[in-house]
Amino acid sequence: MTRHRNSHLPVRHPETAPACLKLILTIAPPSWGFIGLYRFKGDAIVLELDSSQYRPVVDGSNGLRFTDFYTTCPVCSPSRASLLTGRYQTRSGIYPGVLYPGSRGGLPLNETTIAELLKPLGYATAAVGKWHLGVGPGGMYLPTHQGFDQYLGVPYSHDMGPCWNLTCFPPDVKCFGLCDVGTVAVPLMLQDVIKKQPVNFLTLESSYSQFMSTFILNSASMSKPFFLYYPSHHTHYPQYAGPKASGASLRGPFGDALLEFDSTIGDILDVLELMKIINNTFIFFTADNGPELMRMSRGGNAGPLKCGKSTTYEGGMREPAIAFWPGVIAPGVTHELASTLDLLPTIARLSGARLPQVQLDGVDMTDLMLTRGGKSKRGTMMFYPTDPSEKTSIFALRLGKYKAHFYTRGATHSSTGPDPDCQFASALKAHDPPLVFDLESDPSENYPLSLVTEPALHGLLDEILEAKAKFEASMVFGESQVGRGSDPALEPCCAPLCQPKPSCCRC
Ligand SMILES: *[C@@H]1O[C@H](CO)[C@@H](O)[C@H](O)[C@H]1NC(C)=O
Ligand SMILES: *[C@@H]1O[C@H](CO)[C@@H](O)[C@H](O)[C@H]1NC(C)=O
Ligand SMILES: *[C@@H]1O[C@H](CO)[C@@H](O)[C@H](O)[C@H]1NC(C)=O
Repeated sequence: MTRHRNSHLPVRHPETAPACLKLILTIAPPSWGFIGLYRFKGDAIVLELDSSQYRPVVDGSNGLRFTDFYTTCPVCSPSRASLLTGRYQTRSGIYPGVLYPGSRGGLPLNETTIAELLKPLGYATAAVGKWHLGVGPGGMYLPTHQGFDQYLGVPYSHDMGPCWNLTCFPPDVKCFGLCDVGTVAVPLMLQDVIKKQPVNFLTLESSYSQFMSTFILNSASMSKPFFLYYPSHHTHYPQYAGPKASGASLRGPFGDALLEFDSTIGDILDVLELMKIINNTFIFFTADNGPELMRMSRGGNAGPLKCGKSTTYEGGMREPAIAFWPGVIAPGVTHELASTLDLLPTIARLSGARLPQVQLDGVDMTDLMLTRGGKSKRGTMMFYPTDPSEKTSIFALRLGKYKAHFYTRGATHSSTGPDPDCQFASALKAHDPPLVFDLESDPSENYPLSLVTEPALHGLLDEILEAKAKFEASMVFGESQVGRGSDPALEPCCAPLCQPKPSCCRC
């Protein structure tokens, strides 16, 4: 984050100020290639957001950049469930695929979110943006029922409603594509109430920015610790941007959307500085899944990583991640293994909150982040497909620098580009023994190792199978929440009694 140029700050011990700790967690599905300065193990990534008019805020230069950071699923709802609970989505039942506007299910209320963890400590909590963990009957799964005092946002993906007549860029550039037809127009909700339907994309980001600034100002002026969760809609299809960001990047609609997101982070940093609390604020930036290559130049780019969204290859699962805390977290790069699963235990440690009494899959990253050259407590990472089952179990696992694929499959979301393995036509393939790659020498998963002929690798397969068996023995699948199905009557409608639905739901 370039607003803080002093990159050799002394590392301060965080225990000196736990009571006033502020936490900001932000996720977006950007692609690796467009976060300025982000390097992939020394390989410079080609394109940057910088342009003559704009210098990016989120460029990682003053934070700790993770190169080997993973989400738990290559699509949104499941990966958000595990980020907020520290548990694989199979436990909470957020599978298969994602939740829809009329879904009966949602993140079960007996799961403990990061916000619920912090409430007993007196934290003010807010969620802003794309929720996508359920609406449900009477809005029972909305953020305000999951530990957040406040919510402003579209409660699911902003393409989950017809968009062909909506304006995505000023003055009146229509959104690209149709988005989901046959469902209600996408609503903007404040707490549990629909404020506007359809949402206005030209003012959406500025209303988010204002809402977050007010939340921070209010919390800070009451000297309250706070937790702000900002899951952005950017850079998901259809891209949109308000007047400030529109046309301001060198990368078309995708770049403008990313630029608008980046500039919101700049606004947040400005408020933190204004209130003189930036040094007490831990900010974590990451993404919930890899680029949606199916949208081609509007879908993002996985750089050197294989395939993208909806696949368990690295392009679907490995994400950019930056931990930022001036004076506490030294800027730099770590190649240690870490995951969105680890945020809940880490935040618990930093804030002094009690861990929920459930089976957690995350580990505390505090030592890794606060100590130069710190080591990760995470030895493995498990990769579930978008439709996990007890029968197929995990598709892949990472053990140290190795990744073993027990199953591979392409996906519609990744069905462009020349690699046949990424295409939808690449059907489910079981691998016994698993396909094993050394991600340090082969981050693109091109050259499977021969475990039999390489004496140095003898024993590796046993270790992999042992790690898999140990993990599986700990896994209890929760009831599928997506499997509970959808009911059009549950789709959020600002005029509940209007006819004919869904098109009459406009206010
Ligand atoms: C939540 O409740 C369901 C249904 O009773 C149960 O199966 C599940 O284990 C509970 N989850 C937690 C985290 O307590
Ligand atoms: C889209 O806009 C056109 C022109 O304004 C209008 O005729 C048409 O009915 C609209 N379609 C929908 C589905 O709103
Ligand atoms: C934050 O800490 C840095 C050094 O750690 C210091 O230079 C800066 O002035 C501090 N800012 C505030 C607002 O206290």
